[in-house]
Amino acid sequence: MGLIDDDLKQIKNIYWQTFSIGKKARAQLKNQKPVVLWFTGLSASGKTTIANLLEEYLHARDRHTFLLDGDNIRHGLNKDLSFTDPDRVENIRRIAEISKLMVEAGLIVIASFISPFYTDRRMARGLMEEGEFIEIYINASIELCASRDPKGLYKKAQNGQIKNFTGIDSGYDIPKRPEIIIDSSNTEAIDAANQILLYLESNNYLDVLDDQI
Ligand code: ADX
Repeated sequence: MGLIDDDLKQIKNIYWQTFSIGKKARAQLKNQKPVVLWFTGLSASGKTTIANLLEEYLHARDRHTFLLDGDNIRHGLNKDLSFTDPDRVENIRRIAEISKLMVEAGLIVIASFISPFYTDRRMARGLMEEGEFIEIYINASIELCASRDPKGLYKKAQNGQIKNFTGIDSGYDIPKRPEIIIDSSNTEAIDAANQILLYLESNNYLDVLDDQI
């Protein structure tokens, strides 16, 4: 309790600072509309492959992007976190905050995390402004993901060598209203990345900036 009280006191004494250069100015310099493209789906559903291709396509169109990926972030910033429910919540909280900062920096952020819990994805969306968060559900059945098993993790989880594995002994909330659903069982990664690109184009996310933000 003492610790919590101290934390609250500290927050009380911190004031929000406003700076001259804001999101709009930074985005205008980059000539783009900042947005978070939030990939969610089981391990081995294809998130990383599709996210990587999508970033290549956007980069080729002179867009300023940054890809945040579960495995990589867990080697650095989030290496103190495990796969228990509370640690997954903290993992996504930090990623959501980083995504928000990167949007403030004027970037197109591609966040690729299992992000299994509905409430965490809703929290991440809630941090952004209207229209700045696009949820992309990479839908692949647990059977398909387990048969792909590129890292051998499903095998280990099934043998009990890994605990709290998503889809085995840890849950995944299917997204309720994602902006985009990719059926990764019958869609090639290239087609999936193109489908997302088409969505961005037809919803004016790739327009050159005017006064829209
Ligand atoms: S999340 O659930 O907290 O969003 P995150 O996307 O950061 O997960 O990390 C998932 C990656 O960690 C998987 O792609 C997989 O390679 C690896 N991993 C290791 N242990 C687990 C586990 N218990 N459950 C799921 N993924 C795991």
